[in-house]
Amino acid sequence: MIQSMVREFSRKVVAGTAAERDRTKEFPAENLKKMGELGLMGMMVPPEYEGQGADTISYVLALSEIAYSCASTAVVMSVQNSIVCESINKFGTEEQKEKFLKPLASGKVIGAFALTEPEAGSDPVRQSATAVRDGDYYVLNGDKRFITSGKNAKTVIVTAKTDESNQHKGISAFIVTKGTPGFIVGNVEEKMGLRASDTTDLIFEDCRVPAENLLGDEGDGFKIAMTGLDGGRIGIAAQSVGLAQAAFDEAVKYAKKRKQFGQSISKFQGLRWKIADMATEIEAARQLMFLAASMKDRGEKYTTQASMAKLFASEMVNRIAATALQMHGGYGFIKDYPVERLYRDARVFTIYEGTSEIQRIVISNNILKDKRKL
Ligand code: CAA
Repeated sequence: MIQSMVREFSRKVVAGTAAERDRTKEFPAENLKKMGELGLMGMMVPPEYEGQGADTISYVLALSEIAYSCASTAVVMSVQNSIVCESINKFGTEEQKEKFLKPLASGKVIGAFALTEPEAGSDPVRQSATAVRDGDYYVLNGDKRFITSGKNAKTVIVTAKTDESNQHKGISAFIVTKGTPGFIVGNVEEKMGLRASDTTDLIFEDCRVPAENLLGDEGDGFKIAMTGLDGGRIGIAAQSVGLAQAAFDEAVKYAKKRKQFGQSISKFQGLRWKIADMATEIEAARQLMFLAASMKDRGEKYTTQASMAKLFASEMVNRIAATALQMHGGYGFIKDYPVERLYRDARVFTIYEGTSEIQRIVISNNILKDKRKL
């Protein structure tokens, strides 16, 4: 039911303006508001905090359907649900949930997650933002980079070092709201894809954050980030599956319609085999996504499977989008056909929320330290 409802909404409401938003970079605020009303912005948050209390399987189905129509809208939904809402729901105090989670889960407020820095991407332990306790406040200083929804978010989870001598255990997480003096939105990136989703620098200059906004305990920041990214990576798999399905459907539609050498190009074995391989790869990624989501729902440790799903699905969608574009011939290279946008949007999936190379480190580390998984 959730999948059918979101599919209808996505194709009727979200799809219509995706190409135009790609051109203008206009943030899909209206559609996100409607998605909040439909319960899509805090799907896994319990109803007492204005979420839907849905499971991860329902969430990935919904997210794939949004990604089918607009990957920019999907990444905002993904960050909001997977990293922002889930982190506050899991690690927040009752007061933090009342104050910050409720507006996020109901979609009234957009959230962001600020871990990455100019010199700390794959290796966030070496981040240099600092938070120094001063009475009832922490004073934040530092620069964050590539923050999804950095401009449009009102509530941001920010990590910073509270103990510089203590590697990952010296990192803490804070809930910081827009409007706090010293919290500045910096450069908005000009991107190749996902153009309707803003990606920005966030700058903190002697930004005084109430101590009650510390998420978890001092030193929990890295654990909170890693836990959030486990769920986030299932979300990227879902985005990949949704976008791949869209590129595939466009390719099949085009192959059936396009005639060369006196017949539909779908009659040529070279293309038929591509269609078979594409469908098989999408299904394999979908099953990995379901595996990780169902393990999370059962309360099992799913870090390895989330990384496998993210790795395979994000690389799969880049192959599918490239093949779909190739099947369109010259028409794939112009903006009249959606595959051109889909190809650009897919490119970042192997990069954000941990590159393919990082996923391979996570998977191999977990296999080598836990022989039962072999
Ligand atoms: N869940 C909970 N805890 C975890 C964890 C997980 N998945 N992974 C690691 N930890 C804990 C470990 O247990 C360990 O804690 P203890 O010492 O207490 O046991 C601690 O974290 C350190 O673990 P490692 O030694 O494995 O850490 P590491 O420094 O070697 O790094 C890494 C591990 C996997 C490379 C990690 O740094 C990583 O994932 N890097 C990529 C970062 C990333 O994905 N960035 C994306 C930015 S966010 C983004 O893109 C969002 C967006 O806006 C779209």
